[in-house]
Amino acid sequence: MSSSKPEPQIKALVVCLGNICRSPMGEAVLKDIATKRGMDVHVDSCGTAGYHVGEEPDERCVECSRLVLQSLARQISTSDFVRFTHILAADENNLRHLQSMKPSNATAEVRLWGSYHDNKAIPDPYYGGLNGFEKVYQQCVRLSHAFLDNVVGKAETNEV
Ligand code: 4NP
Repeated sequence: MSSSKPEPQIKALVVCLGNICRSPMGEAVLKDIATKRGMDVHVDSCGTAGYHVGEEPDERCVECSRLVLQSLARQISTSDFVRFTHILAADENNLRHLQSMKPSNATAEVRLWGSYHDNKAIPDPYYGGLNGFEKVYQQCVRLSHAFLDNVVGKAETNEV
């Protein structure tokens, strides 16, 4: 008998441009909320661009989310489209980029993260002030609940 833990049914990848602001914050918030809701979800993040590969998240994200952000920036790879069940784009530009590179064997559902809630993009906070980061944090909280509400029903009926 194997004692190894089963793989989570839901594997979500949060994607923004640089992977130093919105998506590392989204990754940490989604993980935190899934844990608090008792859901076993694997969460990661990446960027569509490679400008900041290897960098730690912007310190304004840490300040606003009050969570430990462990990710180091990485760029999306075609293998992500089969490794993850859900790819959550922060805005329409990133969604278009993802759709344009989606391989024919992709199994992940690729959507605007906001499409699980109000269809709104997460605005890029990089060149603005702390207030923009606070808004991103609040939006990530709402979108995490909306995403988990959506997938939980499907997971129960094996439609993930
Ligand atoms: P992110 O924010 O996509 O939320 O990580 C940005 C980070 C860096 C840049 C733009 C957006 N940049 O132009 O370097």
